[in-house]
This record gives sequence, structure tokens and C-alpha cells, in this order.
Amino acid sequence: MPPTTTDSLAREGRLRSIYDVRTADTPRTACQVEGAMPPWLTGTLLRNSVTRFDVGAGRVPHLFDGLAMLHAFTVGDGGVTYTARMLDTADRRSRAAEDRVTLAGFAVDPCRSRFQRFMQLFKPALSDNANVNIARLGDEFLALTELPMPIAFDPETLETLGVSHALPPSPGKVAHTTAHPLPDAATGELVHYMTRFGPRSQYEVHATRADSNRRLAKLGVREPSYMHSFGLTDRHVVLHENALVVNPLDLARARAPFIQNYRWKPELGSRLHLFDRATGEHRGVWETDAAFCFHHVNTFEDGDETVVDMVVFDDPTIIDELYLDHLDDDTRIRPQNRVRRLRLAPGGKVVADETLYGGESFELPRIDDAQAAGRPYRYTFATGFLPDGPGADPSLLRIDLERGEAARWQAAGQIPGEPVFASAPDAREEGDGVVLSVVLDTTSDRSYLLVLDGRTFEEIGRAWAPQAVPLSFHGSFFSTD
Ligand SMILES: [Fe+2]
Repeated sequence: MPPTTTDSLAREGRLRSIYDVRTADTPRTACQVEGAMPPWLTGTLLRNSVTRFDVGAGRVPHLFDGLAMLHAFTVGDGGVTYTARMLDTADRRSRAAEDRVTLAGFAVDPCRSRFQRFMQLFKPALSDNANVNIARLGDEFLALTELPMPIAFDPETLETLGVSHALPPSPGKVAHTTAHPLPDAATGELVHYMTRFGPRSQYEVHATRADSNRRLAKLGVREPSYMHSFGLTDRHVVLHENALVVNPLDLARARAPFIQNYRWKPELGSRLHLFDRATGEHRGVWETDAAFCFHHVNTFEDGDETVVDMVVFDDPTIIDELYLDHLDDDTRIRPQNRVRRLRLAPGGKVVADETLYGGESFELPRIDDAQAAGRPYRYTFATGFLPDGPGADPSLLRIDLERGEAARWQAAGQIPGEPVFASAPDAREEGDGVVLSVVLDTTSDRSYLLVLDGRTFEEIGRAWAPQAVPLSFHGSFFSTD
């Protein structure tokens, strides 16, 4: 078979394979390993994917509303096993039983009578389709989305255990949260934020342990921003308000799906809020030119300045690009993005606004958490997840933020997912470990766990799953050592 470029994948409609793959619950199965797994690598890469977009005679319109499916690659003693299981949620069951969507998701909302819309104000029928990320809180493993209904599951069997009450607020409350809580290794807490909607909306920052929760900070807000992730240092919590904002009344009236109630108002700029982690004090607002951020890369303190690195787009067009109809259309322009570094000085001064890397489409940034999180650092890993020009295949990037250049793993017809860093047990410097990514081979319709050396970014080995793994947004490697 001749080499297949992304352009030809698109012409053949095979870019649909990003989201439209045949996949099924799979009992734990031994993977065929090529190359070798590092002998020290022991644990499980857990991924949360989206799949099953068809509902009745139609389909949900947006990539973010596919049903959650969990995948586990378990590595140990040189071997690898794979298992997969759909998350068993009320949303999945109701779609199957009624051939339609009955619960409100990101870009889909069931048709409702005026009376039902009125009742929605008091008892919202929100989706529990936790399809974005995975986190561990104590002994509990949680599948997460941006609605406050984490779903607990068994990390061995991937069996769904039910809605967890581990993370506030209580399920069913009208709130929007982050699927990217950040761990505090010193306290064992997960730090996260949420937006509570109401006549007086507010942002809240919480730190949660398996057995307790404390609210670190709160801030009233008139038009809440759509935010997806945040920044954390040992001293501060950083919220970056995108200029994509909502009138809470519009959400309450529920005349349109969740995200379609938000409006892009670039005149608001990007507004950054710092909260003191020790006291909860709101340290102020830093305003700068508007850019749209899904993912913070890293945040650290430098003297009395706080450095905030994010992957940003010029505007939120990327949300529109991820409607399935648009993904099917290879003539659409793919938005480019960049790593933006903001340096925040006391008194609300943005003393530097730099582009550390740009000029192509990439996303899902990760770092070597053990060596880099909350500290000065050099590298971020990302997925070139949308094709960005003739002959371009999707790729994995190791971006050198000091030099503004990238090393690249790329192969014809291969669509890699989020690169997750797994530290070597004797790691001393940033990059001591491996990068793990689940790659879809569109030429064989199967996926494999790809293992790259963290320093050279060259392949060490791969382990083939018995099936194609659909696009997954996020996951993590949980070491068993
Ligand atoms: Fe995300």
C-alpha cells in the first residue's frame, strides 16, 4: 500500500476514523509487542475516548458528545495487555432505549416542551457521559467531564461503579467544572474549580481529598467564562477567563445546547485571576489581548512574578471545527495555535506576552509532571491532531520551549493521541522516562500503544491492541510501583 497522507485520508473520508471506528467492549487480551517495553515500566495507561455518535436515525452533532469508552493498556514484565469497556451511564442507556438524546450534553440538548424547560430550572436533566478525562482520588478512579457528575470505575475491569460524590458540587446542581483537576502531591488533594450558575454566579476553587473537601476561594462573576483548565503553583491558583462568556439566564432558559449559549466578546480580553492558595485571597485581575485557551501547559513562580503557559487559538473557532460535519469536510481551514507565555507581576501588570512556539495546529499538551509541574521547565509534548497542510500527517511533538522548535514523530496514515509522560523510577532530569501515546493505524484499522524515549523522542516499542481505539481526549499512566 502506498504511503497515505492526511490529505488523501480526508479525500477518502478516512478522517472519519478519528471518531467513527468500529470498537467494542474487549476482555483483557495480550498485545503483540514490537521492539521492547522498558523493564521499569509497570502500570496502566487509562484512556477515556469518545465513540458511538449514532443515535436513532441520526447522530449527535459534536465530537464532545460521543459516548464515553474506557481503555486500559497494562504494562509489566515486558508484556502488555489491553481491555476496553463502555462507561455504563444513564445517558448511554437512554440513548439506546429511546433512540434519541434525552439528557443535555455539550452541544446537544433534547427537544423539550415549555413546561419541561421551566422545570429544567429546578431539576436539570444533565448528561452523566463522563468522556473527557480520568483522575484518581484516594483509591477511587473517576471518569470526568465538565458537568459535575464524575463516574467511578474499577481500574482493573473498567466496570462502571456509579456516580461518585467524591468531587463537589453534588450531582445535579447547576454548575460547570473542569475535567482537568490538578493533583497536589504534598497534600494528596485534587485542586479544581467550578462555576456555579444562578442570579449571582460565582467561581469556586476547591481542594478535595477522598474523605474531605475545602473551598479555597470564591469570586462573584456576572458573565461566566467558558474555561476548560487552569494553572496551579505552590502559591497560586490561576483562572484564565476566555472572552467566551454566557448570560446565566440564557443557560437557565435552555433554548439552545450548553455551548451555544456562550458568546465570543474579544473586547473583554483575556482576564486572569490569581488566588492565594493559603488564604484564598483574590490577588487581582490581569487583562491582556483575547485568545482562546482549552489547555494550560504549566504555571510557575519566578520571584514575585507568576508565569502562565497556555496553548491558545486566536478565537474559539476550534469548537465549531469539531462538529462532525466539519470534521468530514477536508476543505475547511484548520485553525493554527501557539504556546503563549504570560508573565504576571504584582499590581495587575502583564509584563511579558510571548509566543514560545506556533505556526501549526497542535493540542493536548502534556509535560513531564514529576520534574516540571509548577517549576521552570523546557519541554511540552503535544499532538498535531488536525492536518495543517498538504501532505501533512498527524504527529506527536516534543516542543522545546527555550528554542521554539520541535522534534516530531510522524508516520503515514498514523493518527496519534495525547502524549502522556511516564517517569523512570530513577528520574533526575526533565525527560527521564517515556512518552506513551495510543496511535490509530488507519491502514489496518487497529491501534497500538506507542512508547517513545523521553529524551530522544525515538520509538522504543509498540504494543498492538486487537482493535481500533477511537479518538481519546485524555488519560494518565498510573504506576503500580
Ligand atoms: Fe482537555
